Formats: sequence, C-alpha cells, structure tokens
Amino acid sequence: MKLDVLLSLITVVALNSPALADWLDIASLDSGNATRWPPPELTGGKSWADAFAKASALVANMTLEEKVNMTSGVPGRCVGNLGGVPRLGINSFCLEDGPAGPRPVHGVSQFPAGHATAATWDEELIYMRSYVMGKEFYDQGVHIALAPVTGGPLGRAPRMSRNWEGWYADPYATGVASYLSVKGLQDAGIAATAKHYIAYEQETFRNQFNRTEPYSIFPAGEQHSISSNLDDKTTHEIYLWSFAEAVRAGVAHIMCSYNEVNQTQACHNAYTQNHLLKRELGFQGSIMSDWGGQHDNVASALGGLDMAMPGSGYGGIFGQMWGENLVALVENGTVPEDRITDAATRVLTPWIWLGQDQTQLPEVVFNGASPFFVAPDGYRDVRDSNTPALIRRIGAEGATLLKNTGGLPLKNPQRIAVVGNDATDNAIGTNACGTAYRTCPSDNSNGTMSMGGGSGYVYAPYIITPVDALKARAIDTGAEISAITVDTNVNSSIQSLLPSADVTVVFVNSWAVEGFDRPNINLNPNHEELITAAVNSSSNVVVVMHIPGVVDVEKWIDNENVTAVIAAWYPGQESGNGLVDVLYGDVNPSGKLPFTWAKNYEDYYPNTIIADAVTSPQSNFTEGIFIDYRWFDSRNITPRYEFGFGLSYTTFSYSDLVLDESGAHSDEHAVQETNEPFAEADGNNSLYEVLFTVSATVTNTGKTMGSEVAQLFVSIPEDDQPPRVLRGFKKVKDIAAGASSTAFFEVRRKDLSVWDVVKQTWYIPEGEFTISVGPSSRTLPLSTTWSKTV
Ligand code: NOJ
Repeated sequence: MKLDVLLSLITVVALNSPALADWLDIASLDSGNATRWPPPELTGGKSWADAFAKASALVANMTLEEKVNMTSGVPGRCVGNLGGVPRLGINSFCLEDGPAGPRPVHGVSQFPAGHATAATWDEELIYMRSYVMGKEFYDQGVHIALAPVTGGPLGRAPRMSRNWEGWYADPYATGVASYLSVKGLQDAGIAATAKHYIAYEQETFRNQFNRTEPYSIFPAGEQHSISSNLDDKTTHEIYLWSFAEAVRAGVAHIMCSYNEVNQTQACHNAYTQNHLLKRELGFQGSIMSDWGGQHDNVASALGGLDMAMPGSGYGGIFGQMWGENLVALVENGTVPEDRITDAATRVLTPWIWLGQDQTQLPEVVFNGASPFFVAPDGYRDVRDSNTPALIRRIGAEGATLLKNTGGLPLKNPQRIAVVGNDATDNAIGTNACGTAYRTCPSDNSNGTMSMGGGSGYVYAPYIITPVDALKARAIDTGAEISAITVDTNVNSSIQSLLPSADVTVVFVNSWAVEGFDRPNINLNPNHEELITAAVNSSSNVVVVMHIPGVVDVEKWIDNENVTAVIAAWYPGQESGNGLVDVLYGDVNPSGKLPFTWAKNYEDYYPNTIIADAVTSPQSNFTEGIFIDYRWFDSRNITPRYEFGFGLSYTTFSYSDLVLDESGAHSDEHAVQETNEPFAEADGNNSLYEVLFTVSATVTNTGKTMGSEVAQLFVSIPEDDQPPRVLRGFKKVKDIAAGASSTAFFEVRRKDLSVWDVVKQTWYIPEGEFTISVGPSSRTLPLSTTWSKTV
C-alpha cells in the first residue's frame, strides 16, 4: 500500500473507527486481480441467445486483427468510431454523445437535461424523451448513443458538475429512470450506453491531471485519478442498483468511468467489471472505456474492458489504447485471444439483437470528432415537428415551485418587469460559449441557461428564451413588458422600472460544466445582488432559477417581497414556453425535487469533493448508504426543502391506503435477467418479483386541476438502515378540482431487501416494515405495516 493511502486510512480510522474494516477490505478485495475475479462465460442471457449465437459465428470467422478492429476505436466522423469488418458485412459503428440529444451535431433537438426530466417524476415523459431522442440519433446514422447517465453520478456530491445530466440522488428512482431511458433509446433502434460505471461522483482529479489546478503540479504520468473508496454494502444498496436496472432493460453497452474504484482504475477493475457487472448482474453486452479512462492495455483487457474508446481516435491525445498494441499483446501471449473473442462477441451481440445488422443506418454526414472543438461540417435536419411540444411539456412538468405566497400564477398583470441576463439570448450567439463542449466563461453573461456544458451539451436549434415567451404572452394579453437583461450596473434601472410594475420576474442561474466541479453552491456572480435590488424596489418578485442542483437561497428566500420561486433546471430549447405555461397557470406545477436542498452546504456529509494536492487522491465514502435524504433524515437535519418536495397551485389530500398481497406476481419487466443472489429463506423466486401492491387515494382539495407525485417510502427493520427509503413513485395526472384518483405502486422483493456482506446475498430482514405514502420524503400522511412471513 502506498504511504499516502496509508496515511489517509489512518486519518479516516481516527475520525471514524467503524470505517476501519471498510478500508481494510479495500486492500483485501484486490479489485484489479483478474485471476481472482475472472470474466464469466457469455451466453446471451434471457433475450439475446439467438443474437449471441449469430455473433459467435461471425466472430469465429474473424482474424485477430478484425476482432481487435471491432473492439478498438479508430479516427472517424463520430465522437467514437469502430472500424467494422467490411468483408463480413459489418460497417463501421458510429458512437455519439449524449444524454440530452446527439452531440456535437446540428439538425437535432436540445432536449431538457436529465434533472429537468427527473423533476417531472413522470415515467411516460422519461420514456418518451428517450424514445424521440433515439429516433434523432438513428436518423443521424448513430449506432450507439453515449447515453443515458444511469447513476454515475448519482448525486452524492452537491457540487459535482454533472449531476444535472442524470436523475435522482436516490438509487431506486434513478433505477426507474435508467430502465425507462435505456428502453426508450433502444426501442428507437439504437444501442444505449449506461454510464459512468461506477461511483463516479466528482470531476476534480477525474483524469491523470487535475483540471481544477495548474497542470504543472504533478507530472501527468504520476497522477492517479480520484479513487472512490466504498464498502460492499454501499456499492450494492446505492451505486450498483441503477446499473442493475439498466441491465434489466437490456442495455447494450456500459461505459466505465474515469475514477478509480477502491484504488483500481474503474476500466481495469476486475472486481467491478468481471464480477459485479458481468457475473452478478449477468451483463451480456460490452463495457467501453470513457475517453481516456483506460490507462493500461493489459490491465483493462484482463479487467473486463471490451471496447477501447476513443482508441486511436482524436490523434491519440487520450493515449493510444488497444488497436495494434492489443494485437501484439495477444501475439506475445500476454492477453489471451479468448478475451478478445469474448469482447468482440459482446460488442456484436446487442448490435444483432437490435437488428442493426439487417438495416443500413443513414450515412453520417456530420463531423463530430475532428478537429475536436470545431463545428461540424455536414448538415441533415432530423427533427420531428411534434418534438418541441414534448420538450415544452417536460419543461413545464418539471418546473418545481419552491415558494409561493401568492405571486403565482400570474393574474393577468398589465405591467411586467423582467430582470436578468438569464432571461435572454446569449449576446454572442445561441451556442456561442464553446462549440462542441460549451465551456462558457463562468461569469453571468452567457444568456439563459437551457443546458449545462461538456459532453452532455447539445446544440440548440433555437432557444425560446423566457423574454421571448413572456413578450408573446404580454402581447396576447395586452400587457406592457420591459426587460433589463444585463446583470451589472443595473440598480438605477431597477429602481426606476420596478416600482411601477405589477410583477417583477427575476432570472438567475448557476453554471455547471463537465471537468470542473462547482466551486461552491452560490448563484452565478451578481445574481444574489439582482434579487436583493429587485426586492428593494418591488413587493411582488418572482424568482426563476436555471440551475444544475442546489444553490444557496438563504439570504433572500424568506424575504416577504419574494412572492414565488421556481427551480426551472436546464430545460432545453423550449425553455421560455414551458416556463410561461407554468407562470400563467396553463400548466399547474407538479415538479418535485430530485435531491435534498440543504440550508447550508455544510449540512451535507463532509468531503464530497476531494481536491487534496496529492498524487493519489482518495475519496472515502464514509457516509456509506446515507446519501442525500438518508443523511438528513438519520441525523435529524432540517433541509430547506426535502427530497421530493414541490408545491402546486392546488392542494391534495391522501386517504385509503391499501396494501394487497394478492397482487403478487412475477417480474414482467426484465428484458435481461440478473444473477443477483437472494437468500434461500425467502424463496428462489426472482428478486424482482412483486410481493405486494399498494394503493392510495389522492384527492384534489383545491380549486384548480392539477397533477400530484405520490411517493412511497419503506422503513426497513434493520439497525443500519436510514429511517426510510424511496421504493415507489407515481405521477397521478390531471385530477380535477374536487375529484380523486388512485396512486398505485408495486413493491418488489429487492425493494424490501438489504445486502448481506458476509453471505454475499440480498435478504429481507425479519421484523415489521413501515410503508408510508405521501407528497414528499418528509410529509407522509398514510402508513401501514408489512412483515415477512417465512
Ligand atoms: C467524456 C465523458 O465523461 C463521457 O460522458 C462522454 O461520453 C465522452 N467523454 C465522449 O464525449
């Protein structure tokens, strides 16, 4: 063990002695040892047996060079390219980002970010977004979408700058979204890539250099990627869960992440790749590296990697991995050829299963790879005329009303003031701050934040800004509107404009871009000052925030002149339209928070982003399974807004909770089945069998039609568990004033199980479970109990 690792272990031990076993386990796990954790045999699993047979036959006819060509990236027009084997009818494969639409490609839609979609809690919308996006990938000729983000990051660290690309700071809900989004993409005929596997929870030190510090601190070769150190229970109950759901959805590929896991590079990690993913979850597809996440040709091959990306693409700037290096390593006996046969078969099996061997995808006309940051040169518009309406709807359904003392819905204001650069276009061009990657300067003059930056950014074909949409509505309603769309030196304009306005809508934001964690949870510079200036000149200020996660609102949230606050996330190209639907009450807000909104950053567990200037930075997940609301609930910390919180223009009541064991039935959703072990005592049935159903009546007790996200939490009778964990959610839609509707949940064995680290199995604990239902993680008016009968 290296000295610095040892020292950090000693510190951890000193701070938290029960952690001793965990960190010692890391060493004994020996997670890079492929002899200890060998790859399992490939079978095709439940649904891919025919495709597997065909793929095996194809690969049996390939030379070593051809197999390597199917597994190593080459230069090409896409972000990733596989060479193909033309003599066997296999053309090259195109791999393209990302989770909010094809990137970097023009002629596509900018969908709402993951967080914006998560906040809808609407399974249909989550699926539809992926399906419609999948069609765009297909029509651009993309075989493999580098999407969705499926719990890497999960949202452990509030400042992690990619949380907005993903879903909920909760494994269950992220599992549902992962399943649906993989399904949506693949139903559209393209392969999905669940990413980033696993425990990828910070950007700082993700690469062999630290992008938050000058490059010169360490020679790049000596620098290790951040190591996420986590115990077995946490791995299973928190970080692996959503990947299991992606596997169940039949995901074709999984991308290993940049970080180390328990001190072995994720893309070399025989334990997480061969054992957990391929054996325990029974994953039959391929594991591809994140771009530059592979640091060693041999360790990655033996550790379970199946596809080197970008391989020799991008002029090898990420380090020339595999390709002819791998041919030589097989020829000299260092890497067994069987391993490459297995890898090539894993790449081709889902390709055949998806039917891509039978259809010619459209030719790729864009140039998304070379040179790196330059705009693409080819153009084909693949947008469908119905897509803007879907994007607008997701934006409106995800908008989360956090405070409302009467400011909303707007009551036909005749004089409207708008404040903030976030309300308008970027003055230097819609997609101006960085072309392919959108690395905006971190000041506040980038225009409205419809999307974050990095590989999760998508070119917007246009952005309906908030000012555009508010103006259109003002014209329709015969109102006057005046907008101040710069953020600095505006006090006197604010003082002269706002007092005569019926309502002031202030737009603020926070910028997040891949590669750099947010330095703090503040709004962008000057934005707090804008709100302060507004409340000093107006008694009716509505604040709208375009944000990638929690921001500090404490200085102004309780000001009585702030009459409403909306978190509008990163909503994509239809930003203003979706927002105005909510502001004017055409859509009653029903968005709810996908994470816990703390009052103070310090209220979250310590050490979420590690930036220590050492060559082997260590991120010890000492909070274990107690992430997000699990932490706040178990420590009795009052958040500003709890997980699952969001207001409506109406009110709802909950009644008639019914738990029905007669509704038990087998798993109907697995495209592929996992091999996760389950304790004998509970029977040999699937871990995903439904054990009981729960229903509750939701009544609209207000005066306006509205939708409600009902949430089901389970208290598991085991000492080391949080007070409650989310195990169901249902959006009950369009309930008329005075009417009732039923929220219906299915609770599966796994939803009641915990992981036994000694027996290496899931089991349902003995004792009484409390099942609660309500509108948020801290308001659960209904509850009942359930006990295991053995
Ligand atoms: C790095 C990102 O982490 C990953 O999400 C993306 O797919 C690749 N780059 C390719 O752009």
